[in-house]
Amino acid sequence: MASSLNGLNDSVSHAATRLPRKSRTSPVKQPQRSYLFPLLLLLTIVLALACAHRENIPDRSTIAIGFFGDLTGPTFNFGISAKNGVLLAADEINQAGGINGHQIDIVIEDDKGSPEEAAIAAGKLIDRYQVVAIVAAGASGNSLAAAPKAQSAHVPLIAPSSTNPAVTQAGDYIFRACFIDAFQGEVMAKFASNSLKAKTAAIMVDYNSPYSRGLSDFFEVSFAKLSGRMVIKQSYQQGDADFRGQLSAIKAADPDVIYIPGYYGDVAIIAKQARQLGLTAPLLGADGWDAPELWELGGDALNGSYISNHYSAKDPAETIQKFVHAYQQHYGNLTPDAHAALAYDALKFLAEAIQKTGTTEGLKLREALAQTKNFAGVTGVISMDRDRNAVKPAVILKLEDGAYVYQETIQP
Ligand code: PHE
Repeated sequence: MASSLNGLNDSVSHAATRLPRKSRTSPVKQPQRSYLFPLLLLLTIVLALACAHRENIPDRSTIAIGFFGDLTGPTFNFGISAKNGVLLAADEINQAGGINGHQIDIVIEDDKGSPEEAAIAAGKLIDRYQVVAIVAAGASGNSLAAAPKAQSAHVPLIAPSSTNPAVTQAGDYIFRACFIDAFQGEVMAKFASNSLKAKTAAIMVDYNSPYSRGLSDFFEVSFAKLSGRMVIKQSYQQGDADFRGQLSAIKAADPDVIYIPGYYGDVAIIAKQARQLGLTAPLLGADGWDAPELWELGGDALNGSYISNHYSAKDPAETIQKFVHAYQQHYGNLTPDAHAALAYDALKFLAEAIQKTGTTEGLKLREALAQTKNFAGVTGVISMDRDRNAVKPAVILKLEDGAYVYQETIQP
């Protein structure tokens, strides 16, 4: 109180000393009173009209939505595909008039495939760009690192493709557009046991990746429940070049199938070296294998492998084919992988939540997202469960000469 009064006194005293000097030195002749009145009146009318006009102009401000993903680094395919998916969805929404008349503006950051960079990217999107929500298209480890930032700032974050259960456990502002790995691991264990009649399995796990470790554990538990036996478990680290030691040990254990829940860059090399060593058992993988780059790196060595995934671009369903066609029109005939489809879905149901709740305010938006129910996405019908995970079926795809051949759909 005292300081503000002092401030007031200061300004009064400055004005008092300035005024006389100004009137003394001003060479401009003062306008006569008779001109002054109509001039003021005119000014008032012009201002009033301008204000009235302004009120009729609808608010056309854009809605800033953040995106980060692995645009460079060892899993750059994930980020590029997801970015393509998000931008296609934004384009469609904007073409159709935006969200309640507001165009979407996607602010893009690169997490370089690193958890530290993912946390920085989320912070930047929130603090510098003031985004209303974030689509976090990194691998699980990166979303895990970024989620606490969004949670503490009360900015909703949707991880389209991060399947590790812990991601959404970061708090009630964190959502995902995909199933979780407890389900994904179980799906592959069931397929191995029921469809491939496997009795024994080996595992190759990327021990630094929460995604890989999680899937490995879930597969192991489910396979055991189906009376399958784990004969050997080996580990590697993302970026390793030589996997022959582990693969030789696996060969000696002679498993019916080899589960490798890793990312495409490593998995492609593992497949090549496995075949070179004469390992013939089917290789089983998960969504982390899905990238156009997989085939370039792994080639024929991948034939006969199976993966669990979120959708199949070959599915004749109308929603899927419409999306595949639009994507190919946009991106020069590229077939959208699961990352692209999930990111597309994530932005679409985020937009629907903003539209329904009529605000971008964090808490309201969080509540609207939590109520997502029966949203018809490309990757299936999306409903949020109590833990903000999407409950959806998975598909099994067989890898054959550069293509993913649809095998079956497994319901949750
Ligand atoms: N599910 C993977 C993860 O959580 C990421 C991924 C999703 C990769 C979809 C490919 C396709 O790390």
